[in-house]
Amino acid sequence: MNSSTSSSIHIDLDPAELPSHIAIIMDGNGRWAKKRLLSRIKGHEKGSEAVRTIVRACREIRIPNLTLYAFSTENWQRPQSEIVALMTLLKKFLESEQKEMVDNNIRLNAIGQTERLPKNVQQALHKAMTVTRKNDGMLLNLALSYGGRAEIVKMVKEIAIKVKDGNIEPDSITPELISEHLYTSGIPDPDLLIRTSGEMRISNFLLWQIAYTEIYVTNTLWPDFGKDEFVRILIDYQHRKRRFGKVE
Ligand code: IPE
Ligand code: IPE
Ligand code: MG
Repeated sequence: MNSSTSSSIHIDLDPAELPSHIAIIMDGNGRWAKKRLLSRIKGHEKGSEAVRTIVRACREIRIPNLTLYAFSTENWQRPQSEIVALMTLLKKFLESEQKEMVDNNIRLNAIGQTERLPKNVQQALHKAMTVTRKNDGMLLNLALSYGGRAEIVKMVKEIAIKVKDGNIEPDSITPELISEHLYTSGIPDPDLLIRTSGEMRISNFLLWQIAYTEIYVTNTLWPDFGKDEFVRILIDYQHRKRRFGKVE
């Protein structure tokens, strides 16, 4: 996507004050479908179109890092038929978006217990990550089989082993060291967290990383979420005063 595609709705956005990392809890696919007397799976299908729209918008606006919560560790407890449909959609998405990611200089990454994904999804994921690995225009980070608590457990285990083996002293455990042992190592903490469909909760997403993240909850259901609302949220974000505990 070239810069000439930037349209007038960006006019109110200050390019110097854009978030460097946006995280999104894409919620409400099931309710979107229910309202239309459709199956939940139809809601997920429509939701994957919204993913495409928002990835494009982020690239165009020049957001460097986007993390999308696509499937949580708790989502494995959903009916098997829904899980299968979600995994099929995910595989389709990874295959169909590969060319666009390559063309638009987007690097794909996944965070979470990806070893729990079906083998064919793991393969599609590996392929998409490999072909986009040198891209540096934007990082698209998919949270797949992701849970914040599981991530913290993984980090504690890794650090405990280093201490046990005598490679580090307990005193050298710092917030920076902890961040380095999370899936998001090397990625700045999110500046903005958006949740669609009105739920006022975090649902086990990026627990450590969102310590000072600005939160925006919209009632819009994920399949209805589009670029205009996304830009309005960015404008709202740019009007906020982030204090980080200090005084102005
Ligand atoms: C979000 O939509 C997608 C996933 C969690 C995979 P939901 O499926 O949670 O939709 P609601 O919350 O039931 O409406
Ligand atoms: C959070 O949504 C997980 C994802 C969007 C992938 P859920 O629908 O699973 O969360 P709860 O159950 O409402 O907390
Ligand atoms: Mg939900």
